[in-house]
Amino acid sequence: MNLILLGAPGAGKGTQAEVISSKLGIPQISTGNILRAAVKNGTEWGLKAKAFMDAGDLVPDDVVIGILKDRIAESDCAKGFILDGFPRTVPQAEALETMGVVIDKVIEISVPDEDIKNRLGGRRVCESCGASYHVEFNPTKAEGVCDKCGGKVVQRADDAPETVLNRLATYHEATAPLVDFYKGRGKLTTVIGQSEVSDTSKLVLDAVNA
Ligand code: AP5
Repeated sequence: MNLILLGAPGAGKGTQAEVISSKLGIPQISTGNILRAAVKNGTEWGLKAKAFMDAGDLVPDDVVIGILKDRIAESDCAKGFILDGFPRTVPQAEALETMGVVIDKVIEISVPDEDIKNRLGGRRVCESCGASYHVEFNPTKAEGVCDKCGGKVVQRADDAPETVLNRLATYHEATAPLVDFYKGRGKLTTVIGQSEVSDTSKLVLDAVNA
């Protein structure tokens, strides 16, 4: 099964992608995590991407499409995958179609902008494996330590309040049109994000029949 999780920054795409990934045994592909790893490793295009990411702007389509194409060609994607953070523009969605990738379902997680600001303010992520937590709603068992890999859990640079505002504006302008794009193809299910992670998970798993 090939799935797309769509939603504003902080809507819970990464959180729910982890749940579906362990339930269905297919990988979560987060373009944000791949880009952050490239920045950390100091690769040539990682350094180019950094300025866009720090400002809360989108990385150019050709860079992200190239990354995605390489990733889904890997053997662990043979039985399906969950795209978390891709596509983010109509040209990215069209590129998937040009590659011949068949998407089975697109799950939009809908959360009001005011809630997004609270969620991103309290978000913490693992520097090593990218797992996502929240100081109040989804805390780590030991403070500052990842439950999954024992890595260091930190605040993301682009979760600064002014950068979050720009990310939200970018979402509404560039990414929200994908809701109609996939609705028109009969692939879209909208899930209203709940205040408890597990309540959203139930709705998302229902939507993918898992
Ligand atoms: P990316 O890493 O994809 O960031 P994003 O889309 O802004 O999404 P987030 O990771 O911020 O949020 P999420 O929806 O995964 O929410 P999460 O589960 O963490 O991209 C970063 C940057 O990379 C972009 O700005 C761009 O520059 C670049 N980029 C990436 N992909 C690109 C592309 N395709 N094209 C161009 N550029 C690209 O949850 C958020 C918080 O809320 C967490 O703390 C979580 O614990 C908490 N939470 C989750 N669910 C709930 C709940 N139900 N109740 C309460 N709290 C909850």
